[in-house]
Amino acid sequence: MKVSVTTLTLQDLDVDLLILPIGRSLARAKAAKIGGPIGEALNISLMDFDGEEGQALLCYPASGRAHRVAVIGIGDSGTVTREILRKAAAKGAALAMNTKAATVALCVPDSGIDAESAGQALVEGYVLASYDYDRYKTQPNQEKNITERLVLHADRDEKSARRGAERGRVESEATITARDLVNMSPHDKTPVQLGKIVERYGRKYGYDVSIWSKSDIEKEKMGGLLGVNRGSMDPPVLIEMTWKPTKAANSKPVVLVGKGIVFDTGGLSLKPTKDSMDHMKADMAGAAAVIGAMEAISRLDVPLYVIGLIPATDNRPGQNAYVPGDVLKMHSGMTVEVLNTDAEGRLILADALSYAKLYRPELVFDLATLTGAQVVALGSHVGAVMTQQDAGAQERLDAVLSAAELSGDLLHPMPMFPHYGESLKSDVADIKNIGNREAGTITAAKFLEHFVDYPWIHIDMAGPSFLKQSTSYRPAGGTGFGVRLLTEFIREYAYPKKR
Ligand code: BES
Ligand code: MN
Ligand code: ZN
Repeated sequence: MKVSVTTLTLQDLDVDLLILPIGRSLARAKAAKIGGPIGEALNISLMDFDGEEGQALLCYPASGRAHRVAVIGIGDSGTVTREILRKAAAKGAALAMNTKAATVALCVPDSGIDAESAGQALVEGYVLASYDYDRYKTQPNQEKNITERLVLHADRDEKSARRGAERGRVESEATITARDLVNMSPHDKTPVQLGKIVERYGRKYGYDVSIWSKSDIEKEKMGGLLGVNRGSMDPPVLIEMTWKPTKAANSKPVVLVGKGIVFDTGGLSLKPTKDSMDHMKADMAGAAAVIGAMEAISRLDVPLYVIGLIPATDNRPGQNAYVPGDVLKMHSGMTVEVLNTDAEGRLILADALSYAKLYRPELVFDLATLTGAQVVALGSHVGAVMTQQDAGAQERLDAVLSAAELSGDLLHPMPMFPHYGESLKSDVADIKNIGNREAGTITAAKFLEHFVDYPWIHIDMAGPSFLKQSTSYRPAGGTGFGVRLLTEFIREYAYPKKR
């Protein structure tokens, strides 16, 4: 989708659809201000429209350039948030689809939000809602008519609106990269293929990529990744992405680790198919989020040294598959008794987290579709965030929760009290890979904590990474959760602002 910004008057916009997000009580004033046929049509629509959030209707100016006008309610000005703007734009995108509009103008409303953030949120909502995954469709989807050109209309602060629109476009496209990867058939994203895809992205967007082969992984003694891979026909890879701009604000990197299980059958502890294994092509959504974030950071030229790390394999019950009772010697040297081969994510992440120590990182994130318990606890729209309990814990949580709120990729913290780690005690090895039935999301994080010695933020995104039903700007399937969260966090980290 082409995205641009204009300051032309509304009457002069030659588009198929004009979208006006309008707050409560502002509709009348807006109609008067606009005047002409558009103002008239808007005035008539006031019969059924008072600007309440979620309201949307189409009106038809009797004459003029724009054929249709959509008015979308955004509630009381003063309480408008970026998320409300994203949702309003998503509503507009749905109307554009229904009316088969090829060119659309979207107005930045008076909302109390600065033009840059508003422009970003509107473009995000619009572009993300217009997503359609059609890679495997042999016939074009008649229902999904995607806008060709989106013009953001700003009557003031044009420069800021332009910056916001550009950032919104880049972050949305990077989110779409992640969605596409999650939605892709597992057969097309074996670890080696995934590595090739990322190499292509690296060349396109300007970050460096190096792919470790199985023998490199063996040399590093990554027993967790190799153990999970034993049941597979396909060799594992470790994908290393580097964005190191000369003007980077940090000399020690921020590292982003993503769980890259390209398909999770559960291994010998096999999953049932319905509502369980049937979604497990999405078990690399953490990896997809990291790949998307690397794209956004490099395209936006963020002055921060960032490394992305993806351990990738599938988890299958092959003839040589690891079995319950197997003891693995991990990259860190620690031994792990495997009591459930379906708790594989933590095994591959542990090796990547332990390897990340070599960078002497300033901060490490990991993103993973790690536990079913996370979905039970927080549902499909909110991820869980955890960090080790040390002096910096609160500051890290505050920063990541603020990025979550701003990006709309919502998070909620879970506690990391020491006693949660007790259920990981093993009779035969240093630890085992599962706890008891209680607090599964936290015990998984406690497992990972054994492998970090730096400030660390763990995000379990099993719920929000993949949706069965679409909502607002997130379609069914891969959501791209985490891309905008990480990008927002890293931008804030690179340019600490006075907010
Ligand atoms: N990939 C799954 C977690 C998952 C579940 C992601 C539902 C998305 C939706 C993970 O590898 C897994 O199987 N976890 C087990 C751990 C258990 C065996 C301790 C789980 O949560 O059941
Ligand atoms: Mn599993
Ligand atoms: Zn898994």
